[in-house]
Amino acid sequence: MLFHEVLVIGGGLAGLRAAIEIAKMGQEVAIISKIHPMRSHSGEAQGGINASLANVEKSKDDSKEKHWYDTVKGSDFLADQDASEILTASAPEAIFEMEHWGCPFSRTPEGKIAQRPFGGAGFPRTCYATDKTGLYLLQTVWEQNIKHNVKVYEEWVVLGLATEDGKCCGVILMDLRSGELVAMGANAVIFATGGIGRIYANTTNAITNTGFAISIPYWVGVPLKDMEFIQFHPTSLARTHILMTEGCRGEGGYLRNKDGERFMSKYVSEKVMELGPRDIVARSIQTEINEGRGFPDGTVHLDLTHLGAKKIMERLPGIRDICMNFIGIDPIYEPIPITPGTHYIMGGIDTDKNGQTPMEGFFAAGECACVSTHGANRLGGNSLLETVVFGWRAGEKAAESVKGKDKKAKTKALEDALKREQDNIQNFKKLSGKENPYKIKDELAEMMVKSFGLFRKEEDMKTGLDEIMKLKERFKNIRGAFGGKVFNLDLLSFYEIKANLDVAEVLAISAIARKETRGSHYRTDFNKRDDQNWLKHTIATYSPEGPQLSYKPVTITKFQPEERKY
Ligand code: FUM
Repeated sequence: MLFHEVLVIGGGLAGLRAAIEIAKMGQEVAIISKIHPMRSHSGEAQGGINASLANVEKSKDDSKEKHWYDTVKGSDFLADQDASEILTASAPEAIFEMEHWGCPFSRTPEGKIAQRPFGGAGFPRTCYATDKTGLYLLQTVWEQNIKHNVKVYEEWVVLGLATEDGKCCGVILMDLRSGELVAMGANAVIFATGGIGRIYANTTNAITNTGFAISIPYWVGVPLKDMEFIQFHPTSLARTHILMTEGCRGEGGYLRNKDGERFMSKYVSEKVMELGPRDIVARSIQTEINEGRGFPDGTVHLDLTHLGAKKIMERLPGIRDICMNFIGIDPIYEPIPITPGTHYIMGGIDTDKNGQTPMEGFFAAGECACVSTHGANRLGGNSLLETVVFGWRAGEKAAESVKGKDKKAKTKALEDALKREQDNIQNFKKLSGKENPYKIKDELAEMMVKSFGLFRKEEDMKTGLDEIMKLKERFKNIRGAFGGKVFNLDLLSFYEIKANLDVAEVLAISAIARKETRGSHYRTDFNKRDDQNWLKHTIATYSPEGPQLSYKPVTITKFQPEERKY
């Protein structure tokens, strides 16, 4: 039976950074990746990664503590402050590591790493490599994995966890090329599987980002935390929802309504304008559209035309390419039609500051994890940072945890888990109902936008939850999965759709229960933050009857909650 000391599931930035640490510590590690690591969604992150380097004139008074404060304030005081302190204090070291490994950051005229302003930040502290920062970082850590000879199982997908006495002892995988199921033992498993944006119809996320990966631990008892907090990026391209980086506004882009008005002055101070935090800017855009000040296609404009060709081609070349290729406009001459798009989940698999989940032997890092450093609203540029800082920490902890352990697979537990997945697959193939699973997936995604979007209220959310329960019933009556073996993506979709329904149920129940407005969770029927009753994290634990909710306190070490003003 195959065995690795540590298995990392996911070949994006968090997973690749974790694997480097494990290899550096002398432990044996392998990566499982659904796609080639260089195609991971981390590569779609555009605008940058935050660190208080104080490299540009306007950021000379920046500090780690100011980055920490902005992160906590941005989180609407739901972030665990010890976790966000680690994030922000580790940032300069994490960036210099990437620089020394060869990441081609953009530079100031003096040759320092360039920094641009991003929303909710007191200073320009977002380090960038044109508008392809995620891609260059991914390339950088990928090269280090090659250097350390990390074994990668490419186009393999995880279907389930194997456990013994409540501890994780491996995974069940499908090799997509052959369709074979494989049980793989490990003394520690790290999930670094990314986000779940595809449970919404209007997402900036790649098609790989479904609810499946986080459901796998959830189904075997690992709780999910703060799942009601979904980030809507203010600017996604009309029709396609491709990300239009916050770097556009950081470089001086304007938001305008159909009357040509720079409307952000109505929502935040004149000093802040387009560089408010994402939750507020996204809601402001949607308010303009809802109140009839959008364009007839339901968008507002992101206007870069005053920046000039040189700046756009130098700093935002990818944005220009995307606009020209996908909607046939050149942002040097024409404004970009945008709407908010589902972008990121602040919640995820419940972990501590080292990526340890409540299940021994099982860790998580990156977007799939909820540490929680971002609380109710993440600042742009803090997510690439999270992947490298917490990928590194989870890797370190997992490597320490396996030292001295037997390098042997727990055969019985793995065989049982393998049998469970073989049965699941047989059941998916045998189904003979009439329902089209893809229709269920699409209906769910459309409903999530309507009922659990930027503005929420009890009545809509309850209608949404009823819809989820009906879709779950309909899912029992779907047609069977395609029977072939090679690249059976139909079968994989069955798992993903089942998972999307369960994740949506957790999100819905968590959101209905939280009777306040905080960060991205904006309720028109409870439109104030309520620290008295809701300064706490939501914990959702699987039960066959549906998610069971409990709560745990927020760690406050320095910054007392205050009204969030921009
Ligand atoms: O707007 C962006 O470039 C996205 C960055 C992020 O989500 O951190």
